[in-house]
Amino acid sequence: MYDLHCHLLPGIDDGPQNLDEALALARHAVANGITHAVTTPHVHPGRYNNTHQSIQKLLKQFQVMLQEAAIPLKLRAAGEVRISPEIIPMLQQNQIPFLGTYENQSVLLLELPHSHIPPGSDKLVDFLIKQNIRPMIAHPERNKDVMRNLKKLEPFIDRGCLMQLTAASVAGDFGSSCQDTASAIIQNHWATILASDAHNLSHRPPELKPGFNAVAKLLNTDAASAMIIDRPKAISAELFAHD
Ligand SMILES: [Fe+2]
Repeated sequence: MYDLHCHLLPGIDDGPQNLDEALALARHAVANGITHAVTTPHVHPGRYNNTHQSIQKLLKQFQVMLQEAAIPLKLRAAGEVRISPEIIPMLQQNQIPFLGTYENQSVLLLELPHSHIPPGSDKLVDFLIKQNIRPMIAHPERNKDVMRNLKKLEPFIDRGCLMQLTAASVAGDFGSSCQDTASAIIQNHWATILASDAHNLSHRPPELKPGFNAVAKLLNTDAASAMIIDRPKAISAELFAHD
């Protein structure tokens, strides 16, 4: 399975805080059947000042640690980019990381605040698409505006945004409101992929199987496989090309 949204690098955001925690997460991912992961540290100016360059540097160090620990997880890195005006100058300086490609466009994992959808988000999406960048909205089912009214997602769907649902949301681990929203997104055929959004072993572990089972029940196993294998594999193919 392919996990394109998870926090596995040590000490770079609110994911694992040290090497032991990070290796434990990677081991857990492998035990859960995750073969390939693109770790996506927060890129949130003012809070987590990560850039494509700083993330790649830490990735290289962590890949050596994975090898030394004999953990067979194929790991690459991108980022979970908070929606903000700073994205524009960061793009100009090549500081924004990408998850891969979809229909010849670079895929950007875009994070909305949990509380609401900021005014002007549609304008930023228009700007990105003009730059040949396809936004993938991170866990829309956990956004309060969307949970109240699914129509709030339509401006993003209409513009061709991809949607990443968190596997645990679909499985019900974030409560019934979140699960109902995730189920509605899936039944509308709006969901592109599932990912773990793993941060730690206790509350948010790197697991995709519970989400797979939930999608298989809602739709069917082919649709579930597409969300955890076929689509994430195709999107991240370039990142894993040199294996
Ligand atoms: Fe995340």
